[in-house]
Amino acid sequence: MTETSPAETSEAPAHLNGSAAPRLLKGLVLAGGKGSRLRPLTATGAKQLVPVANKPVLFYALDQLVSAGITEIGIVTGDTGDQVRAAVGDGSAFGARVTYLPQDAPRGLAHAVITARDYLGDDPFCMFLADNFLQQGIDDHARAFAETRSAARILLKRVDDPSALGVAILNESGQVTRLVEKPKTPISDLAIVGVYFFGPEIHDITPTLQPSGRGELEITDAIQGLIDAGHVVDSSIIGDEWVDTGKKDDMLEANRVVLGTIHRDVKGTVDIESIIVGDVIVEAGASIVGSTVRGPAIIGAGARVEHAYVGPFTAIGERCIIRGCEIEHSIVMSDSTIRDIDSRIFDSLIGKEVVIERTMLKPVAVRFMLGDHAHVGIS
Ligand code: G1P
Repeated sequence: MTETSPAETSEAPAHLNGSAAPRLLKGLVLAGGKGSRLRPLTATGAKQLVPVANKPVLFYALDQLVSAGITEIGIVTGDTGDQVRAAVGDGSAFGARVTYLPQDAPRGLAHAVITARDYLGDDPFCMFLADNFLQQGIDDHARAFAETRSAARILLKRVDDPSALGVAILNESGQVTRLVEKPKTPISDLAIVGVYFFGPEIHDITPTLQPSGRGELEITDAIQGLIDAGHVVDSSIIGDEWVDTGKKDDMLEANRVVLGTIHRDVKGTVDIESIIVGDVIVEAGASIVGSTVRGPAIIGAGARVEHAYVGPFTAIGERCIIRGCEIEHSIVMSDSTIRDIDSRIFDSLIGKEVVIERTMLKPVAVRFMLGDHAHVGIS
């Protein structure tokens, strides 16, 4: 087990690589899945493309793989594959070479590994669930795995309630002895993070798996299969922030974490009546007029903020119009308009091309046109 800052570290000498060269890893990014907990946004868009600090969450996974020296990357796609392809292209913008691997249906993480079997060959690989957001990246974990010959390394995080996640039990050397997917009764506080490292041994196990109670081939069962077959599975307990961005509040949390690291950079225009406080990025072509923007916040290219307040931990997407209103701790996706709203907008995730406006219509009332699964909170 190797734990990154703050660290609890131990090594498993039996399978150390000695003086052999580090293994060269491929990347396998899982970008299928329906995103049902983010509807209605995901009714029209891929959940992996929802922006965190104005950058699709999937791009953080790609950047982190490339940062760890992993540039040969397969992306497993589902129904939203066309959007993912359009956003990522051939991967050259990330310094990677991307191959698309369509999965016939979301039949589980281990099924995605089966889907990628030919692409992966016998190369070791890092499997990265595209909706998982890791603050510190994966450099140290990738290096630790590449320098050993262990069959797998998983990342773990101590959490208060791991019942909606996979969990692991370790021996004294930090090797994994048992894993359970979403245990009903708690067996450990070590939740399995959605970033895994595998050697080719995993391909001996995946064809033997049976669908779980939720009808999926579970990667947790595949890792247990490696252990049962006598292979070493190492672990790293991560100390940094990890967000599984499946739900609105988790997206806002990832947004908060990233915005907490930005530095002031004003490329757009700010008029003399506006006040910009703290770390605020105003992208080129954005304009701030008669407004206060209190960072950390980002205002996307071409957006207009007029006679408005944009508060901390807010990301305003490209070409949005924010006029005569107050908004804080929120994500507004591109091309949306919010104008002349009296109540402060808070803790909100607002999709693309949304319009929220005041009307002079009588009777005085709120009027909605909302997609299926929309969620509105009115005080
Ligand atoms: C999957 C894994 C689970 C892991 C989680 C991390 O869960 O099965 O073991 O803890 O990703 O995000 P799912 O998102 O499929 O419920």
